[in-house]
Amino acid sequence: MSEDLSFDALRWLEQLAQGALAPRAEDIVARAVTLFPGSLALANSFGLEDLVLQHMALPYKDRIQSFVLDTGRLPAETYDLIELWRLRFSIAFRMVSPDAAALEDFVSREGPNAFYQSLELRKHCCEIRKIEPLTRALSPHGAWLTGLRREQSQARSTLELAEKESSGRWKLNPLAHWSLEQIWDYVHTHQLPYNPLHDRGYPSIGCAPCTRAIEAGEDVRAGRWWWERDQHKECGLHTHARKETTHAYPSP
Ligand code: ADX
Ligand code: SF4
Repeated sequence: MSEDLSFDALRWLEQLAQGALAPRAEDIVARAVTLFPGSLALANSFGLEDLVLQHMALPYKDRIQSFVLDTGRLPAETYDLIELWRLRFSIAFRMVSPDAAALEDFVSREGPNAFYQSLELRKHCCEIRKIEPLTRALSPHGAWLTGLRREQSQARSTLELAEKESSGRWKLNPLAHWSLEQIWDYVHTHQLPYNPLHDRGYPSIGCAPCTRAIEAGEDVRAGRWWWERDQHKECGLHTHARKETTHAYPSP
C-alpha cells in the first residue's frame, strides 16, 4: 500500500496520529477527500456515529466509497435503514458479503448459531463474516474513515484521530473525541434517519443474534456478545487494525 502524499499531507496525518492537532470532524473528512483521491473508503455499520460521518461525507459521495460489511445476520431494522439512506440520499453503498464457500462450509459444519457455543467459534464466525470481508473491502483503498469513539470502551479510550496501519493504509477516526450526546445532537439537528432499535434500548448494534438491549445503568456495549466476559467484547475489526499499527500505539 503506497500513497503519494506530499510532505504537508504526511505531516498533517502524523500530527493527527500524535494528538497534536484536533480539527473539526467535517474538516478531516474534507481534507481526506483531497489527500486520497479515488482511494478513500467509509466503513458504515449504520450505527449512529456512521450516520453522522455519512452525512458529513454527502458532498463528496462520488469520491468516497461507503461500504457495509453485510454479515447476512444484521437486524431487519438495519437493512431497512440502509435502504432508506440508499434511496433518500442516492448513495451507492458497496455491500460486502462473506466468502460464500467459506461461509457455507462453516455453517454446514458448526450450525447456523455456532457463535453461542464457544469463544473460538464466535471468533471464527466474525472472521468469516466481518474480518475477511473487511480486508477485501479495504484492499483498493489508501485510507478509510470509521465512526470509532474513545468513549465507547476501555479498549478505545486512547484512540487518535488517525492511525497508520502496518499495510501503509491510513485509518481516520474523525469522531474519536465526540461524546454520545454530541452524536445525538447532530443526528437530531440534521434529522437523520436512524435505527429504531436505538429507541428500544440498543445503544450499540451489530449482528442480530449477538446484540441485545441493555438495562438502565449498563455499559453501552453490554448488549454486544452479551454472554461473553467483558475483555472479549470486540469482533476483531479494530483490535486487529490496532495490532497492525506501526508506531507509537500500544496494543490494548
Ligand atoms: S465492532 O467491532 O464492535 O463491531 P462497532 O459496531 O463498535 O464495531 O463499530 C465501530 C466502527 O467499525 C463503525 O463506526 C464502522 O466504521 C465500523 N464497522 C463496524 N461494523 C461494520 C459493518 N457491519 N460494516 C461497515 N463498517 C462497520
Ligand atoms: Fe457472527 Fe455474531 Fe460475529 Fe456477526 S457478530 S459475525 S453473527 S459472531
